[in-house]
Amino acid sequence: MRIAVVGSGYVGLVSAACLAEIGHDVISVDTDTAKIAALERGEVPIHEGLLPQLLERHRGNRLAFSSSISSSVREAEAIFITVGTPQAESGEPDLSYVESVASEIASAISEPKLIVEKSTVPVCTCESIRKVLSLHGAPAGRFFVASNPEFLREGTAVTDFLYPNRIVLGVDDDFSAAMLYSIYQPLAQGTYYQKEDAIPSPRTGKDPARLIVTNAKSAELIKHASNAFLAMKISFINMVANVSEAVGADIDQVCAGLGSDPRIGAQFLHAGIGYGGSCFPKDVSAFHSVAMQCGVDFSLLAEVMRVNSQQRRQFVKKVRTALWTLRGKKIGVLGLAFKGGTDDIRESPAIAIIQELVKEGASVCAYDPAAMPKAKEVLLPGIIQYAENEYQAASRRDALLILTEWEQFAALDLQRLHSAMKLPIIIDGRNLYEPSRMAAAGFLYYSVGRPLQITESMPYLWHGIHLSPQPVTLPVAARGAGVLA
Ligand code: UGA
Repeated sequence: MRIAVVGSGYVGLVSAACLAEIGHDVISVDTDTAKIAALERGEVPIHEGLLPQLLERHRGNRLAFSSSISSSVREAEAIFITVGTPQAESGEPDLSYVESVASEIASAISEPKLIVEKSTVPVCTCESIRKVLSLHGAPAGRFFVASNPEFLREGTAVTDFLYPNRIVLGVDDDFSAAMLYSIYQPLAQGTYYQKEDAIPSPRTGKDPARLIVTNAKSAELIKHASNAFLAMKISFINMVANVSEAVGADIDQVCAGLGSDPRIGAQFLHAGIGYGGSCFPKDVSAFHSVAMQCGVDFSLLAEVMRVNSQQRRQFVKKVRTALWTLRGKKIGVLGLAFKGGTDDIRESPAIAIIQELVKEGASVCAYDPAAMPKAKEVLLPGIIQYAENEYQAASRRDALLILTEWEQFAALDLQRLHSAMKLPIIIDGRNLYEPSRMAAAGFLYYSVGRPLQITESMPYLWHGIHLSPQPVTLPVAARGAGVLA
């Protein structure tokens, strides 16, 4: 099928490359001419695993780029809208890009076209798109609008697209249903998985993707409800972690028990410094606003957002607990991205925490394997320093904070780290290490929802520190003069 994907951001570019990968002729469209020129030159504007390979494989073949919406629409049978829906100041999503694309599509429709809303939008947006298309002259009966929400995670977006746990087709007419079905047929029937050069499955099984056919409004709701539910799960576990920490329980043990109930599930139960990114913060807020507009008081979502902000403040409090005052303290930071595997710093808890530390007078040296170029636009060099690797970030520092769950941060040479640091204090907002291992390596290791472990080998750190959470081993022989006293 000939498909135009309007909007070449994270979702648009991944969707365009993956639609080409499963056999369609795709035009990736963006009004940003510089971005289109860069894509045509073979540059990849985002850090996303496997995307460069797919772009390379299909560019100039089944994948073309264009900055003209109208000519791309004229050539295509199906048009996916994947433009941004940023959060307006009111907390509601700003749908002006969707509206403007819809009005431009309208003028280019002469034969029947399927218009697929793939950007994350509030319920009833398909209805609004239909109105805009009509108002701007799209002939009645020549356009069909459907919702096909994406469930791509940054960092694994390509395999999430090609090996989805569900494909939701939100359709209100047979034309849309038939068109969307044939677009996804290679995944729904599994023919793509039989290809020798298919991108390998991240799982062991290669079961065909499950199609869920709903009406458009239900599909729109599925997207918002999914993200809101996942965000709620994170806020819930963070609160359980805070209770766990206060009483000396261990959140890992709690989660092992909690997550083994299949009705709850073990995923998305990692306690930490709260969720960030371009999706959860925006979508929870948007869903809350939509509910309010419908007269539904969904205050649970307001609480999810409140807990999420509080979790960042809670972490800064923990840094104060470990270091007492922050003015003049030298702090190393590992992680700037909102999660591991991406260079995206939008709504990153790491950035917010660093800004708070700097405000309180600490000097910060940070390292992130991918997000430093983007972070430098927000945290200008001069406000903080940037290191070349983890050990340089830790060098002669009073404490090291772990703020992003990069896999490589979980595999550090602890001995090297210990000798690099001024004080062996690690405050881990992502629970990447076993507390007992860190204690054995000589670190005073704070994490989230797990007891602090003090060993006899670190007596000098005991005195003068306001210990919270309660330590598991009280060091009888450790009441000497403390460096932090
Ligand atoms: C999220 C959803 O997971 C996708 O299904 C959805 O398609 C996407 O939003 C979207 O709407 O486009 P993403 O924002 O890439 O994907 O990131 P996640 O992997 O979901 O993580 C979100 C945040 O939650 C990160 O800051 C992460 O560190 C945090 N998190 C995640 C936790 O704190 N604990 C967990 O257990 C899981």
